[in-house]
Parts: sequence; C-alpha cells; structure tokens
Amino acid sequence: MKQDLSVFFKPKSIAVVGASKDSRKIGHAALKNILISDYPCKLYPINPKEDQILGLKCYKSLLDVPGTIDLVLVSVPAALVPNIMKDCVQKKVKFTIIISSGFSEIGNHELEQEVEDIIKGTSMRVLGPNTMGFKNASDNLDASFVFGVPRKGNLSLISQSGALGIGMIYLANNEFVGVSKIIGVGNKLDIDDDDLIEFFSHDPDTKVIGLYIEAVKDGRAFMNAIKACDKPVLVVKAGRSSAGARATASHTGSMAGSDKIYSAAIKQAGGIRCRDIVELFDMARGLAGQPAMKGNRVGIITNGGGLGILLTDACEENGLVVPKLSAKTAKRIDEIIPDIVKPNNPVDLVADAGFFRYESATKILLEDPNIDGIIVASVHGGYARPREFTGAILKMVREKRLHETHQKPILGTWVGGTEFEELVFDLKSAGVPIYPSSWRTARSMYALYVEGQRLKREALQKESNQKKSKSK
Ligand code: ACO
Repeated sequence: MKQDLSVFFKPKSIAVVGASKDSRKIGHAALKNILISDYPCKLYPINPKEDQILGLKCYKSLLDVPGTIDLVLVSVPAALVPNIMKDCVQKKVKFTIIISSGFSEIGNHELEQEVEDIIKGTSMRVLGPNTMGFKNASDNLDASFVFGVPRKGNLSLISQSGALGIGMIYLANNEFVGVSKIIGVGNKLDIDDDDLIEFFSHDPDTKVIGLYIEAVKDGRAFMNAIKACDKPVLVVKAGRSSAGARATASHTGSMAGSDKIYSAAIKQAGGIRCRDIVELFDMARGLAGQPAMKGNRVGIITNGGGLGILLTDACEENGLVVPKLSAKTAKRIDEIIPDIVKPNNPVDLVADAGFFRYESATKILLEDPNIDGIIVASVHGGYARPREFTGAILKMVREKRLHETHQKPILGTWVGGTEFEELVFDLKSAGVPIYPSSWRTARSMYALYVEGQRLKREALQKESNQKKSKSK
C-alpha cells in the first residue's frame, strides 16, 4: 500500500543525497534549509567524498545510515538518480524528493521511465523529479533548496512551476496571506495534484488550497479530488491561449489540453478557476478570514458614487446581485446619510463620509436579512477621511466581531494613492481583505459565494447520509 503523506510533511529522519560543502550547490542549500528550520529530526548528509558537512556526520551512501529514513532529498545529476533510487528502495525509504532536472521536461522520458520502473511495486512515494521540494511553515520544516520563509497561515499551495512557487511565497508574505505548506510537484512522476488535494483536505492546518497547474496527468482523479475536498480549491490553469499552450510544452513538457474543458470541469467539480496568481491570493485572503456568503446578494457602501457603480457592474458580471434596499433598511440608512442623497444600494455616504457614517451603514447592512455580503469602499476624493473608513472596519472586526455574529463577509475597496498605504497595511494585517480595484473585490466576493454554495451542498449531503444510515 502507498504511504499516507503525513510522514512526508512531518518526517522523523531526513537524508540529503548530494549534500555538498560548496555553498553554491543546490545540495548544500537543501541541507542548510533543513538545518536552519530548526525542525526536530535526524538529519543525514550523503556524499561519498566527505566525512562532515555543516557540522553533521556525512555518510558515503544511504545504505550506511543506521536506522530508518523517512524522507530523502536527491540532488545529484539526473544520470545518477536511478542508482540512488535503487538505494532508497533497498533502504526502505518512505518518501523521496528528486530535485534533479533532466527528465521528461527536456524530453528524456526514458530516464524518467527508468525511475518509475525502479519504484514500481514498492510503497515508497516520490515527489518530482525537477522540483523545489516543499516548505511546511506550520511545522517549521523547509525541505526545499530555495529561499523564502512563508508567513504562517492556512493556505496550502501546490505549484507545477518551481520558480513561480518561490515567487508565490514572497507575494503571499507581501499580501499578508499566511501559508501552511507550499510544494512544487515538478514532473509529477508519482505524487500528483490529486494526492495533495486529498491530503490537504484532511490537514487541520489547511483551510484553503491553491494550485498553479500547466496540465494534469489524470483528469478524472484530479476532478474527483476537488469534488471530494471539503475545503475551497482555487486553480490557476496556465496555457489558456494557443501560444500559452505552446509555452507550457517547452516549460514542463506538458500538454495544456482544451482550456474550455478545464474550465467546465473545474467548475463542475466545485473548484474555482482564477485568472492568475494575484487573483488566487485575493480569493484566498477572503476565504481564509471571512465567513462564506449564504446567498448572492451584495450590499455596497461607498463615499464615491462612481466607485459604487463600478462595484455593482463587477458584482453583477460575476453572478452576484446588488438588490434594492428593503423599506426598513432604506429608512435606517436615510437617517444617517446627508439629505443630498437618497438611500439606495450602493449606499452613497457622500465624499466627506467619516467614521460614524461608515460604521452605522455597515452595521445596518449586516443586520439586513436581504444582504449576504458587504463591500465597504472608499475613494480618496479630496474631502474623504481614509483613516476613519479604516477605523470603522477595524472596529467591527476587532471589537465586536459583528460580521461573525451575522456570518456575512466584509470586503474593502479603496481607490487612492500613498496616503492609503498605511491604512491598507493595518487592514491587511488585521485579516481584512481589501483590494485596490472593483473587479478584484467582486471576484473575491464571488469566491465567497461559490464557497457558500459548496458548504450548502456539503450540509445537504451530510443530512441525506444521516437519514440513510438511520433508515438502515
Ligand atoms: N551520492 C551522494 N553524493 C554524490 C554522489 C552519490 N552517489 N555522486 C556525486 N555526489 C556528490 C558530488 O560529488 C557533489 O558533491 P561535491 O560538491 O562535494 O563534489 C554533489 O553530489 C552534487 O553533485 P554535482 O555533480 O556537483 O552536481 P550539482 O550540484 O552541480 O548539480 C543538480 C546537481 C543540482 C541536481 C543538477 O543536476 C540539477 O538538476 N539542477 C537543476 C535543479 C532544479 O532546478 N530543479 C527544479 C527545481 S524547481 C525550480 O525551478 C526552482
């Protein structure tokens, strides 16, 4: 039977084959990353020429290591990999990460097949080849050779591109999106996207799953994994255009496949397709920190009429509805806005809106049963008071947790310049999703709506299962 991936992400013993004293080499970086993670495990550098590397006893071969080895990182030239894999099998290693490039991604299918034949029929599981490895921020283990320390959180990322995976770590940090695990799947010889989606769906440290893919090897397994997953799955699928598909073939040797089929299949399985990495992080920020939308009705609060209209258009284009206010809510809003405007949705608080108008309007919409999610927007239009806009949102999130009581997401939109930077920083660091564009805000609200629908289906399924088991 194939190994469950828990030990892969939390091994008790790790060996690095191709560990080197030379700090320019990948095998050196891989060993050093594990060392500096300060992760509790037995660590064995393997190099036939050395006795000691980075203060650790070095072994000539995996077979010389006393005791068992849970995880091996391989960083030797591709031609040497099959022999190392034979050692791994003989040593009964549980998991191997083949960092080395030079396999199917450059057309060397025979060498990849040779590795596949070696592991066939064994219980060992293999990540790669041609991978950066993984970083497990939740447990402080860096089993990769690349730089970058993710901010801890509950997004787990799977990337078919190593370099983009590294970029994602820095982008996530910049965007205050916390990461639990990030893994590069490389050529997916064995451990594939579906294995990881399945693992993350049971991983208590993961709340949202994000993928960058160029192609999937087993479409049915991939879709079934998304379908069975009880967490939101965000998918960036590259190679949409014919030129992009050509580029994926030369990048990872993958066939991009029909884009329309991918889109339809991801949607049908309950996943969310994102246009790019920024959209994935935008959605992840909302999904990780806000309740899902129970329906598709959005209430918009703004100090700029134009921004309100742009947000309305963007919401409607994404299948959301910006309904008219109920008579009761309209009356309550009318009491707090200046006489020069009428109470509508979007709620126009007028350019000089300060703390009181923002806070009161948001509370009123939270209490309205006809509204499922709220966008609070601010334009720095001369009279505006960005600090008061921020203060109102922060007050609700930090002090009263009103949106949690009402189980409705609150997203922010701002349009302005540097004067907003400090405020956006405050909001992002408090976990409030805030975006500099109406489209990005609406897309994130859409993701919260899709998640709400998924949760409803899940609850119905549970109910029907319970009924079935009672009637037996
Ligand atoms: N067992 C253990 N160590 C061995 C063995 C063996 N059987 N044979 C050789 N070694 C040692 C070498 O002596 C060397 O150590 P030294 O520095 O003490 O001499 C070490 O293993 C590494 O071997 P080198 O021949 O020096 O190989 P090098 O480190 O230059 O390259 C590498 C190996 C990194 C795997 C390279 O072939 C490669 O594939 N690079 C690309 C990796 C990559 O980018 N992967 C995709 C990542 S995803 C992304 O894009 C971020």
